[in-house]
Amino acid sequence: MQIVFLCSEYEGLLKTGGLADATRGLAQALRQQGHQLTILLPRYGTLYPLPLQAQWQSVYVEMNGQHIGAAIRHLQHDGIHVGLIEHHDFFNRPRPYDDGEHAYPDNALRFAFFCKAALAYLATLPDDQSPAIIHGHDWQSALGSVYLKQLQQQGKLLQSRFVLSIHNAAYQQGLGWHDLPLLGLHADEVPQQVQLSMLSIGVKNASQLNTVSEGYREELLSEPAANGLSQLYQTRQADFSGILNGCDYSRWDPATDHSLTAHYRVDDLHGKALCKAQLRQQVQLTDNKVPLFVAVSRVTGQKGFSYLIPALAQWLVEAQAQVVMMGTGEQQFIGPLKQLQQQFPDKFRFIEGFDDDFSHQLEAAGDFFLMPSLFEPCGLNQIYSLRYGTLPIVRATGGLKDTVVGLGKRGATGISFEQPSAEDVTVALEQAISLYADQRKYKTMQQRAMQQYFGWDQAALLYQRLYQRALSA
Ligand code: ADP
Ligand code: GLC
Repeated sequence: MQIVFLCSEYEGLLKTGGLADATRGLAQALRQQGHQLTILLPRYGTLYPLPLQAQWQSVYVEMNGQHIGAAIRHLQHDGIHVGLIEHHDFFNRPRPYDDGEHAYPDNALRFAFFCKAALAYLATLPDDQSPAIIHGHDWQSALGSVYLKQLQQQGKLLQSRFVLSIHNAAYQQGLGWHDLPLLGLHADEVPQQVQLSMLSIGVKNASQLNTVSEGYREELLSEPAANGLSQLYQTRQADFSGILNGCDYSRWDPATDHSLTAHYRVDDLHGKALCKAQLRQQVQLTDNKVPLFVAVSRVTGQKGFSYLIPALAQWLVEAQAQVVMMGTGEQQFIGPLKQLQQQFPDKFRFIEGFDDDFSHQLEAAGDFFLMPSLFEPCGLNQIYSLRYGTLPIVRATGGLKDTVVGLGKRGATGISFEQPSAEDVTVALEQAISLYADQRKYKTMQQRAMQQYFGWDQAALLYQRLYQRALSA
């Protein structure tokens, strides 16, 4: 099958979170299963130094009565064809979605243009290269669903079907009715009863939809998880599935991980102890016997910081534990995290930054991984943590619920709690301390966690079925 991804992130090219891991992991797995993949991505400012193929194309799209040109620049990335959609004013900016503080005011127009230019390019391909599936990811690519229908009315791309994956339904890119002409949309192409947004338009128009876990799919059928779109998700229920993300074990396996200086596997954990000692030295924490809790996370409300921070502020007073976290995000949480470090200089570290190697090193060094999310469509770090033998502490929501078996249940692989409250987090932290004190029990769970398998190959088979459903509709 010829499959084209329209996406705003792709690991190795542009990453702000798990979307990038997911688009690359899935693309590679589909390729290994024999499909032809093309990735279409905006050419962001950070992508200008890339070595590109000499051949390129230009396309023109109509927006707001104007003809606007874009260049399609080609490259190969790990054996996959990538087309970068280049438009200097829209995309040659240092960050993809915001200036570091505020979302760019023209985001709707930028990503509408991205979708239009991508489809205009696909419409120029000869029949034997025309995609069967155009697979959009999140609101940034959602308008591709409508623009495809518009091209089909002109007799173009008649064999193609649009599939939309929702990685995070909280980000929708809201629109007003006055935006419709600017984006080349008509009133009958957009949903009427629910909030108008790039995402809701995609949900209405895609042939098939999915989100990234069964658990989150269930949550999206009602509020508040659906952020006002529950009615629309219900209307599309028959074409809406949940497919759990996978783990790219060629990048996330402590036996081979290039970011680690010591390696380990389930039957020999010596390397893990070295990773822990190294990390403690690096962040200047004493190398002692207390358990090490780690976290790598976008610092946003989604990730549970509103109750995690007060929980830690109380708990660390007495707790015999160390906590090391890395993240970037909202100042309302970053400030208090820095204060925790001042308050507990021998127990707590917060590293403000985005560092790929260090994220792997934290995964390897920890005894426990903190992921107390308020909501979590899938979550990848808890899946990585399982493989690294770093027992995840999660709130039982969305994909976290689907991937971690909580303490006290048969086959437990982590610690799980229910309520998004400082009290419940603290109970979970205390359970971790008790578990760690019983090293036999801890090690049994650790070994079980490391043996769990969430390869992208499994997910890719389910995506193939989704594609088949789109094609046979
Ligand atoms: P989300 O996509 O909601 O951020 P996921 O768990 O699905 O959550 O994926 C997060 C991905 O982003 C993981 O690969 C994680 O390691 C990475 N990540 C998040 N914050 C950072 C950071 N500060 N530095 C490096 N990697 C990060
Ligand atoms: C989103 C979600 C996260 C998911 C990732 C990849 O960023 O917040 O839960 O794992 O997308 O699908």
